[in-house]
Amino acid sequence: MNKSLSVSNLLGISDLNINDLNLIFKTANYFKEIINRPIKKVPTLRDITIANLFFESSTRTKLSFELAEKRLSSDIINFSAQYSSLNKGESLIDTVNNILAMKVDIVVLRHPNPGAAFFLSENVNSIIINAGDGSHEHPTQALLDSFSLIEKFGNLKDKNIAIVGDVLHSRVALSNIYILKKMGVNIRVCGPKTLIPRHIESLGVEVSYNLIDTLKWCDAVNMLRIQNERMNFNFFPSNREYSQLYGLNTDVIKKIKNEIIILHPGPINRGIEISSEIADSDQAIILDQVQNGVAIRMAVIYLLAKKININD
Ligand code: CP
Repeated sequence: MNKSLSVSNLLGISDLNINDLNLIFKTANYFKEIINRPIKKVPTLRDITIANLFFESSTRTKLSFELAEKRLSSDIINFSAQYSSLNKGESLIDTVNNILAMKVDIVVLRHPNPGAAFFLSENVNSIIINAGDGSHEHPTQALLDSFSLIEKFGNLKDKNIAIVGDVLHSRVALSNIYILKKMGVNIRVCGPKTLIPRHIESLGVEVSYNLIDTLKWCDAVNMLRIQNERMNFNFFPSNREYSQLYGLNTDVIKKIKNEIIILHPGPINRGIEISSEIADSDQAIILDQVQNGVAIRMAVIYLLAKKININD
């Protein structure tokens, strides 16, 4: 296995090869063991500074990156668009170049616009990590989802994994499709026709509009949140009807009989895409995903920082 990533930024899963994935998972395993020790911190990145630039709301990703950076002993600055000079008309590139002038090495960017991380990587001189760009990609989420599945199943080759819900607006869905395809998984997306992108089969996935059939077929299901913030009109009649047809609840689980693993990227709309009993059940690995997120982000930051020879 190569000891270094083939990329200098993490913009999307589509850029990574299978060696990159295996290296990230192996490194995350190492960091997971460390963060479960009484002393959870390593001095590895004490010479580097990371800016977390969040232009869109986040709980898990923002705190997980921040904790990963602290566990690696890096210095951190947090930027909140709401209180910045962007309000006075400053551009994204000028904002980031001013931050980089303060000797920042890595930028973690969450942005509502697809392609924002790529745009920044083409226009500023820094390592860029995409923490979610609109409905495009969320690479660290897909990495932590796959890492959590590997912990449950071992090798994912030939496993059947379903992605259910608002696939149309979901960066989690696209990044998961890219990563699971690279690992030889059979993928089925399921949801109302209005929330499944046309021609999605061209990515090598099956499409179903029937939740029960899909759950009977799969070994694990990733339940997606309805992304109301990305919808300017209704894509289905009501939340009640959506949850009757596509919500995962105890009645549905009884009908399918097989023991499936349940993932959700969070935040959860309890009672819409998933009921509280199921979200809090032993079949759900939602909090394992969150825990694994810190180790995955430590691995990504460490491996990208290595490329600038600040540490080794
Ligand atoms: N899963 C995820 O991206 O959650 P946040 O929006 O809270 O970061």
